[in-house]
Amino acid sequence: MFVQFRLFNPSQLSDIIEIARKNLTERYNDFVYLDIQKSWPSAFIVGMSDQTIAGFICGGISGDKEARILMLAVDTPFRHNGIGSGLMSLFEQEAQKVKVGKIRLEVRTDNLEAINFYKNHGFAVSNLLPSYYNDGSDAYTMEKILVKT
Ligand SMILES: CC(C)(COP(=O)(O)OP(=O)(O)OC[C@H]1O[C@@H](n2cnc3c(N)ncnc32)[C@H](O)[C@@H]1OP(=O)(O)O)[C@@H](O)C(=O)NCCC(=O)NCCS
Repeated sequence: MFVQFRLFNPSQLSDIIEIARKNLTERYNDFVYLDIQKSWPSAFIVGMSDQTIAGFICGGISGDKEARILMLAVDTPFRHNGIGSGLMSLFEQEAQKVKVGKIRLEVRTDNLEAINFYKNHGFAVSNLLPSYYNDGSDAYTMEKILVKT
């Protein structure tokens, strides 16, 4: 599989929304994606397999201390090919550039595949957030402390 990573372009919005709809449980209005891109364009990254959008990552910066991963999804047929890891590593590089001390994210407590993925990328559970999601499910906060480069 030939994989490339690019910055998100708004012309890709409908594909990104479809990947989010199929692979993430929370629903977001279309304008949310564009707002996220405006706030931190270099960290809104798309993984392409040939000409097909296979996954994406996006996030924000809270204050000057931490970066947050807001969405990470790889479409099912493209998983286990290193695309999620590639997106994560590029996101981390962007977080290093803005000199935040850590990356934070929330994940459903029953999403064991994602929790394991994050642990394998250096994240640890730091908090439990009861009823965090719209359907009443709990979340873990996971954090990765960034080593200064
Ligand atoms: C979590 C997620 C983004 C991972 O994406 P991915 O592209 O499958 O990630 P990778 O391929 O880099 O890694 C996944 C696993 O495949 C393995 N892998 C990577 N390349 C591989 C290869 N060429 N052959 C076999 N296995 C491989 C990795 O070791 C990894 O194992 P791990 O999860 O135990 O660390 C994806 O499962 C997903 O979109 N899940 C649904 C959405 C979701 O839950 N998002 C997080 C919300 S907080």
